[in-house]
Amino acid sequence: MFDLRVKDKSISKDLKNVFNKVLNHGMFFFGPELYKFEEEMSKFLKMKYTLGVASGSSALYLALKSLNIKKGDEVITTPFSWIITSNAIAECGAKPVFVDIGNDYNINENLIENKITKKTKAIVPMHWGGHLCDMEKIQKIAKKYNLFIIEDAAQAFGAQYKNKKSGSYSDIAAFSMNPMKCLNGYGEGGLIATNNKKLYERSKILRYAGTTSDPKKLITNNCVEVSLNHKMDTINAAMLLVSFKYFKNKTKKLMKIRKYYDENINDIILKQKIRKYEIPGMYAYPIQIKNRNNVKKFLEKKGIETKIWNDPLISDSPVYKSKKNGKLVNAKKILKHTLNIPFHEKLSKKQLKYIVENLNLSIRKFS
Ligand SMILES: Cc1ncc(COP(=O)(O)O)c(C=O)c1O
Repeated sequence: MFDLRVKDKSISKDLKNVFNKVLNHGMFFFGPELYKFEEEMSKFLKMKYTLGVASGSSALYLALKSLNIKKGDEVITTPFSWIITSNAIAECGAKPVFVDIGNDYNINENLIENKITKKTKAIVPMHWGGHLCDMEKIQKIAKKYNLFIIEDAAQAFGAQYKNKKSGSYSDIAAFSMNPMKCLNGYGEGGLIATNNKKLYERSKILRYAGTTSDPKKLITNNCVEVSLNHKMDTINAAMLLVSFKYFKNKTKKLMKIRKYYDENINDIILKQKIRKYEIPGMYAYPIQIKNRNNVKKFLEKKGIETKIWNDPLISDSPVYKSKKNGKLVNAKKILKHTLNIPFHEKLSKKQLKYIVENLNLSIRKFS
């Protein structure tokens, strides 16, 4: 599914160099590489403010906190995601309210309005596998009902629609930069992005235990609100800068792999539909098939690893399970039929051919 080993000699050399640089200057927190990383991210995303944080989880949690999402609030979101999408909401004290998904795996924007109540404060859409939600429609709903949008863009770094990047469709957005993600770090890492100065300033305070930072480091306990440590290490920022240097190249390779799959996988197999004018984040290649479990077993026997993600649905996991969640019919159907096939930039032509041949063969066998 993923091959996280660093095999490329120039990446390896660059990583060792920046690692040594940080060891030499010794500024392990708030070192110059963190600020450089944030500057580069703001430029790339065309967003005024970005903040490097400890993980994508921290990013989403702090983004919600900065908007004052709290106990008594309801936040509309998707049941088909990594559990953090809802846990971040629940950690703020608010209640995640689940809306069914569309055939593209993302929240079905046409069903959102049905779930809005007096308590609804925000919408958290998540771009599944890097494919962007219909943010223009979601923005219209948010405007109509005066709701905040917090994008869970954990899987969608680099995605864009009509030249507008993921993360720029909301009040504040959260990215994950763990080693599996589009912009891969070499440990935990995440990013907050916003154009709103107030949200940026508040997130910055919340990132550092709720304290205002004193440039001279004399006053360290000036805590203005309760928070924990969500900082990004300088070493991670330095290594992410190396990843960013190679990001374009990695994305190009993944686009080619996506195209190869699109063109060669049997059309009986449903692929994730990408909209016109959209470039998705290169995070995953999900397919939908009838006899998913048989196909999975068949591929396993051939040495091809596949993964079923987001099982059970968040709404069915023990902490969120309740009759009030609604039927979420499409999410259940998609979960039952979806399989993620290997998708990383180190896949060779020979490996790709082998995967596609066996996938197509399995379909003939089990359909
Ligand atoms: C949709 C989604 N949200 C949030 C996260 C949390 O990111 P992290 O693992 O960096 O904490 C992830 C990570 O897998 C994710 O996929």
